[in-house]
Amino acid sequence: MSKKEVMETVANEVKACRKCRLGETNTNAVPGEGSLDATVLFIGEAPGYWEDVKGRPFVGTAGKLLDALLREINLSRSTIYITNVVKCRPPKNRAPSPIEVETCTPYLKHQIKTVQPEIIVTLGRHATSFILSESGIKEAVSITKLRGKVYSVKLFGVPVSVLPTFHPAAVLYNAKYRDPLEHDFQLLESLIEKSRQGY
Ligand code: URA
Repeated sequence: MSKKEVMETVANEVKACRKCRLGETNTNAVPGEGSLDATVLFIGEAPGYWEDVKGRPFVGTAGKLLDALLREINLSRSTIYITNVVKCRPPKNRAPSPIEVETCTPYLKHQIKTVQPEIIVTLGRHATSFILSESGIKEAVSITKLRGKVYSVKLFGVPVSVLPTFHPAAVLYNAKYRDPLEHDFQLLESLIEKSRQGY
């Protein structure tokens, strides 16, 4: 199967999924979108209100902020892949439960193995703790301590650079997160440049 066929199959499975209650309470599942040959894959937490309405990731207020951060480093959405840990909106935007994360993440694993990105940006604590623990890093540390550093790990047997940062929605609650987020996106820009130069 081609990458496109694999990702279409995953998306169809996500849309039909009833493995947890979120598949019954959502309006639309949000599998993810972007380039299947992306160097950079972004992982958020779970769809919010507008994502649930439109079936697309990061199209609400947090998405507008993500777009602005991407623009600042001249990274176009069409060249990256964006998805979430959990593919359906938890009611009232509550945090996904551990069992919801466990039930849903086989889809994310499949997506990562298919895209094979060189860089994974984890937005917030849920994406960060899932990816770092899958990489064998069991640090139960807060996102404040983990962010802004690059973790060179093997994920599903493939070398990848993981860059944890704050979730853009954090800035909507407290403007003090804007500067560190911008700093981490600058770091991302330099990682992409290094990858272009082949080291
Ligand atoms: N927040 C997320 O974590 N993901 C989205 O897709 C939108 C908002």
